[in-house]
Amino acid sequence: MGRIIALVNQKGGVGKSTTAVNLGAALAVQGRRVLVVDVDPQGNTTTGLGIDKARLTHDIYNVLMQEVPLERILVPTEIEKLTLAPATINLAGADVELVAALSRETRLRHALAPAASRYDFVLVDSPPSLGLLTINALTAADDCIIPVQAEFYALEGLAQLTNVIWRVRDALNPALVVSGVLVTMFDGRTRLALEVIRELEQYFPRQIFKTQIPRNVRLSEAPSYGKPAVLFDLKSRGAQAYLALAREMLELAEQPA
Ligand SMILES: Nc1ncnc2c1ncn2[C@@H]1O[C@H](COP(=O)(O)OP(=O)(O)O)[C@@H](O)[C@H]1O
Ligand SMILES: [Mg+2]
Repeated sequence: MGRIIALVNQKGGVGKSTTAVNLGAALAVQGRRVLVVDVDPQGNTTTGLGIDKARLTHDIYNVLMQEVPLERILVPTEIEKLTLAPATINLAGADVELVAALSRETRLRHALAPAASRYDFVLVDSPPSLGLLTINALTAADDCIIPVQAEFYALEGLAQLTNVIWRVRDALNPALVVSGVLVTMFDGRTRLALEVIRELEQYFPRQIFKTQIPRNVRLSEAPSYGKPAVLFDLKSRGAQAYLALAREMLELAEQPA
């Protein structure tokens, strides 16, 4: 059964979509079958994986709101074992439309359930809000990863986010865990970045990934070529960091609990 992992943080610009694209690619080039599900109307993950949104006739909106089967919207990517469930701007209304919908929190879970067994990992990218799309991602997930940018305001909002995670666990998804906090855009030369990590360690003592994602310009350039960093510049520090993160996750998964 595939493990469904939600990438969540209501802050924008912390590296959720970059992680969806590049962790997905890194797991796939290491032989895992990966499905990346874009649940952000901005569709940055969709673009980052080289998919032209203008040419899509269906996207995750149709799955969530019109019960179109997930299979109908899946698109292959340049990496053989990496498949995408894309998002387009169609999804922009969904957070509001879902409010009045039946089973509004569990739609993604039901849509992913029949497909999950065909993958080793399902990575769900979420929008920068704590609305119903993010709730759907958390409700569908076995665990979640919180990307955190190593900057001054990094910890702001984390209390609110963990509160929402606990509420989803209590009401909808009792097995949900925070499997990891991922430090992104890390610049080890600054004292501030190191201080942020020290503070994060107090907040999440056991959950911080050893692998940190450095600030690396190749990671920010790759999406405009529609390529994950492992294809755009394999030797770059960014690509290597996401490969290391994938290895760390695979090692953690093999450890006895
Ligand atoms: N490690 C990194 N180094 C340099 N730029 C990065 C890095 N991670 C993300 N970025 C850039 O920062 C911006 C925000 O990242 P993104 O993944 O889109 O965040 P989110 O999905 O959380 O809003 C994007 O322009 C992205 O290319
Ligand atoms: Mg994003």
